[in-house]
Amino acid sequence: MDRMEVTETFAGMSLPGYLHTQESLRFASSFQFRDTDVVIATYPKSGTTWMQEILTLIRSKGDLEPAKTIPNWARAPWLEHTYFKDMLQETGEPRLITTHLPCQVLAPALRKSKAKVIYMARNPKDIAVSFYHFHKMAKFLPDPGSFEDFLIRFLDGTVQYGSWFDHIKGWLSLQAELGLFYITYEDMQKELGRSVEQLAGWLGCPLQPEAIRAIQQHCSFSSMRENEMVNYTLIPCEIMDHRQGQFMRKGTVGDWRDHFTPRQNMLFHKIYQEEMQDSSLCFRWLM
Ligand code: A3P
Repeated sequence: MDRMEVTETFAGMSLPGYLHTQESLRFASSFQFRDTDVVIATYPKSGTTWMQEILTLIRSKGDLEPAKTIPNWARAPWLEHTYFKDMLQETGEPRLITTHLPCQVLAPALRKSKAKVIYMARNPKDIAVSFYHFHKMAKFLPDPGSFEDFLIRFLDGTVQYGSWFDHIKGWLSLQAELGLFYITYEDMQKELGRSVEQLAGWLGCPLQPEAIRAIQQHCSFSSMRENEMVNYTLIPCEIMDHRQGQFMRKGTVGDWRDHFTPRQNMLFHKIYQEEMQDSSLCFRWLM
């Protein structure tokens, strides 16, 4: 099946032209956030969809109806995507807005508001694996080639959406200034109920224990995998080739162990150390 190879170049990175135009990207970078907005910022494959689902259910106080009837991209649209303006009318209140853009693009606009920003991170080794498999099915991304080739480009920061290192370093450099809520995929895997409780408290929307339990159950990997409002099976095959795999692929921590050779692992650590030497970030899951 043919790939849609058009790309947009913006802020020093390439992005899929199927989802972005210069106009949609300019609109995103000058967006006027409301103080009540809730923004999910992630590098792709960090658990964005999981966070969208959780925030949808925190907003509805555990009522499953919106999560079962409205696709995630309409409930928490991507700020930089071409359809954003249309979807924004429908997202509900408070508005849930998703972005993969680097912080230097959005910081000026975010500084002008009190919008609440959640940054979700994931072990970059697992991101590389998940992103590689996603490239195979997503026809709006380039052919990933072999895992080795893809990993080199991921480490170089020449994959679409740019460098993971720059993304996380950039957003976390604004953690104090923007009052970011920082959470990891691995924290959520370990203690989903506690993560939901913390998020709800931080959003000023505390929940009853039954609501937390309902959210926890609905947001399990097995339950989300069956929900066509989040598992992307609604997307036609020309755009996501479902014969190549599932969007809800494995949902585990440490899948990199089944993909990395010892040499690739050593290379990853070397580059991680070079790139992150000035950062206080400690990924204890990296090993
Ligand atoms: P894998 O490919 O490792 O399975 P994003 O939404 O940022 O594109 O991230 C997608 C990744 O998050 C995929 O990882 C997907 O399976 C995982 N994911 C989505 N929902 C999840 C859930 N409820 N629990 C665990 N992982 C989930």
